[in-house]
Amino acid sequence: MSSFETVFGGMPKVTAQAPGRVNLLGEHTDYNDGYVLPIAIEQKTSVSMGRNNRGEYALCSHELDRMVHFTLAEPPVEHFAAYVYGCLMEARASGIETGPLDIYVESDVPMGVGLSSSAALEVATLRALRALTGSSLDDLRIAQLAQHAEIEYAGVRCGIMDQMASSLAGTKSALFLDTRTLERRLVPLPPASAVLVLDSGVARTLAGSGYNQRRAECEEAALRLGVTSLRDVHDISKADTLPEPLRRRVRHVVSENVRVLRAASWASAKEFGALMNASHASLRDDYEVSIPELDRLVALLQAHPDVYGARLTGAGFGGACVALCKPDTLQPVARTVLRDYAGAGFNGRMLVPPSDGAWVG
Ligand code: GLA
Repeated sequence: MSSFETVFGGMPKVTAQAPGRVNLLGEHTDYNDGYVLPIAIEQKTSVSMGRNNRGEYALCSHELDRMVHFTLAEPPVEHFAAYVYGCLMEARASGIETGPLDIYVESDVPMGVGLSSSAALEVATLRALRALTGSSLDDLRIAQLAQHAEIEYAGVRCGIMDQMASSLAGTKSALFLDTRTLERRLVPLPPASAVLVLDSGVARTLAGSGYNQRRAECEEAALRLGVTSLRDVHDISKADTLPEPLRRRVRHVVSENVRVLRAASWASAKEFGALMNASHASLRDDYEVSIPELDRLVALLQAHPDVYGARLTGAGFGGACVALCKPDTLQPVARTVLRDYAGAGFNGRMLVPPSDGAWVG
């Protein structure tokens, strides 16, 4: 088993961690200045670092079993290293100079399933840089720098939900966030409910997917409607003046914002579940970011008597889905649904829920 000590021959100066997240509601709304409702997951990414005097950065990923060397003038070509490099560059632009570092990354956040492993890596890297330099960056600023790092250096024109969730959310309550004003509050899960996350077994990457294209479509729709962003469209019939697929994209964003606002205002488990079901239909039909495997898994969950509602979570195009279930039913629901999913020829898995009573309303 490798570790910072075995790879670099000494103890790290600092270690910092940050969690992944699962989004309960509010998909593809964040880059439209809208509302989101994520919750942190137990799984975390841990970044250890210490200064070296070899004139270059050394970055080792435990999970990928890869070592990468680079300087700030010569960015690394490996994709995972781009996130760390981006954070180093953003930190430097904010006045945090460290000189060459040895960096060791370990993570149990599942990758490529829509649970924000990249945001966890970015936020943990920036927290480690804060600890190393004694900088006064606050958690909000860390989320903003992390988002810039992803946009500028990893090529994904993401919104700020994932980085805000990783930097500011906990596992006990969901984080209701207005992505325009960054106003936020914690929202407890509905009474008598628990959250289940299942992986469809179909991996996806954001950079190569239709993510940036969806964002461009939203920008074009906002321009044609004469608004700063789709957050400012309240009357869904305004979308009828637009050509397809812009009309459908707007319909999703506008209706999804309404769903988040409803869910965050003390919805019962049943109401919350119905909003999740409607969200999935909208993501499938209007936003067109689902795939047959996710539709099948979500349909199996929705048909289960102990499930209030289910939807794909994250950007879509593969990855995980999230369900709101009756408490104490997560294991049996997962078993039945994954068995039927396997019967349809697919290979899913349960992404372990927190053990200490978190994620339970
Ligand atoms: C990815 C992005 C987020 C958000 C979601 C979709 O996770 O990083 O900013 O847009 O997709 O809701």
